[in-house]
Amino acid sequence: MYFKTGLFITLFMTGSALANPTFTSEEAKRGEALYNSKCSSCHGRELIAKGDPPSLTGEQFGNGWFNKSLADRFSAIKESMPPNDAGNLPDRDVLDIIAYILKFNGYAAGATPLPTQPAAMDGVKISPK
Ligand code: HEC
Repeated sequence: MYFKTGLFITLFMTGSALANPTFTSEEAKRGEALYNSKCSSCHGRELIAKGDPPSLTGEQFGNGWFNKSLADRFSAIKESMPPNDAGNLPDRDVLDIIAYILKFNGYAAGATPLPTQPAAMDGVKISPK
C-alpha cells in the first residue's frame, strides 16, 4: 500500500514538472499592458509581426516556444528584449509578459503563478496544448 502510494506520488510529481506552465490571470493582465507598451511596436498588437521580428502567435509561436523550457524563454526575453534596452526588463515584468503570451495563445490561466526560481523554471516545458 505504502509502495503504491509512493509510486503514485512520484508519477504525479514527474508529470506535473513537465506540464505546461501555470500562470494567473493577474499576471497575464499586467503582461498585456507591458507587452503593449514595450513589445507590440515590433511584434504586433495581435502578436503578429511584420518583417524581421518573429510573431509570438501561430506557427512562429510553435517554432519558437514548443519544447522549450520556461527558463529558456525567460532568458531569451530577459537578455535581448527590447533590443534597445536589453537586460533591463525586471524579472517580474518578463514573467508577466510570458503569461500574457501564453494566454494569448490559448493556455489557460489558473490559481498558480509562474515559478520565479531558475531551477523551477527549468522544469517547466512549453508543449502544444
Ligand atoms: C525594436 C523592435 C523590437 C522590440 C521593441 C521587441 N522586440 Fe523582440 N525581437 C525583435 C527582433 C528583430 C527579434 C529577432 C532577432 C532576435 O532574436 O534578437 C526579436 C526576437 C524576439 C523573441 C524570440 C527570441 C528567441 O530567441 O527565440 C522573443 C520571444 C521576443 N523578441 C520577445 C519580445 C518581447 C517580450 C518584447 C517586449 C519586452 C520585445 N520582444 C520587444 C524585435 C523587437
